[in-house]
Amino acid sequence: MSHPYAVPQKPQGQVTRGKTARNRLRQLDVFVLRYDPGLLRRRDGDFANALFVDLGYGAEATTTLESAGRFRRLNPGLGVLGVEIDPERVTAAVPYAGPGTAFRLGGFNLPLRPGESVRLIRAFNVLRQYDEQQVLPAWKQMGGGVLPGGLLVEGTCTPTGAVWTANLLRRVESGTLWEQEALVLGTNFRLGFDPLAFQAVLPKNYIHRMVPGEPVHEFFAAWKAAIAETSPARAWGLRQWFAAAALRLAGMGYRVNTRPAWLRRGCLIWERPRE
Ligand SMILES: C[S@@+](CC[C@H](N)C(=O)[O-])C[C@H]1O[C@@H](n2cnc3c(N)ncnc32)[C@H](O)[C@@H]1O
Repeated sequence: MSHPYAVPQKPQGQVTRGKTARNRLRQLDVFVLRYDPGLLRRRDGDFANALFVDLGYGAEATTTLESAGRFRRLNPGLGVLGVEIDPERVTAAVPYAGPGTAFRLGGFNLPLRPGESVRLIRAFNVLRQYDEQQVLPAWKQMGGGVLPGGLLVEGTCTPTGAVWTANLLRRVESGTLWEQEALVLGTNFRLGFDPLAFQAVLPKNYIHRMVPGEPVHEFFAAWKAAIAETSPARAWGLRQWFAAAALRLAGMGYRVNTRPAWLRRGCLIWERPRE
């Protein structure tokens, strides 16, 4: 007998641990709201009905529902789709579906229905449980239904979400499919300010690359130097120290976003980290 949530194509990926927590992705939601409000609001052409997809929402639908509430402050009609590869987690979430909010069994090959498209995908704390060589194929598969201009936010955080890191991948018209727009390192400072805390939750494509010669290793070495050099700013508080270190890092030639609003919020945005 087929499962009640059977989908026409086999979900790609594997079931992993489903741990999540209330408000775990709150900082990330606020970041997305401020980083690209236009993407959430867009209603032109195919964007009129384009979805926000939360891929791998975990044992409970909490984070999907919380994000739906936050994003709908900008776009009350935003369609939201929670995708899980574990059928039991779909069963647990379906009672929370409602107008504009659905939960479906699926994998990296998104379980979209005819006529559906995607503006934003979040895959958080999903790829950390995969092997590094599975990352690029997963990104590629997730790009399938995403409209050009759409965004994939893929990353990892601590159990409460106090420290988080995310790849921002922008869907382009053709060719490479995704452009690596930024690596974002975020904190609410509840765990203090220590680059090692970010290193521990780097996305899968970086976490095994903390070795000399790798750009991410050089970046962290430079950031640590910038943090040490600006340590007198600590007297003014961790946020001021974080900002001072980021400005120093920018002065070293790193393409980090130095807008005070980002730095005050504890967001270090390393733009085009591959170049
Ligand atoms: C640790 S939970 C993350 C929950 C939530 N996103 C969070 O950050 O708190 C990871 C979830 O991703 C699901 N998952 C793993 N691979 C998947 C895939 N290819 N497609 C859909 N869900 C997947 C797992 O079944 C698991 O429930």
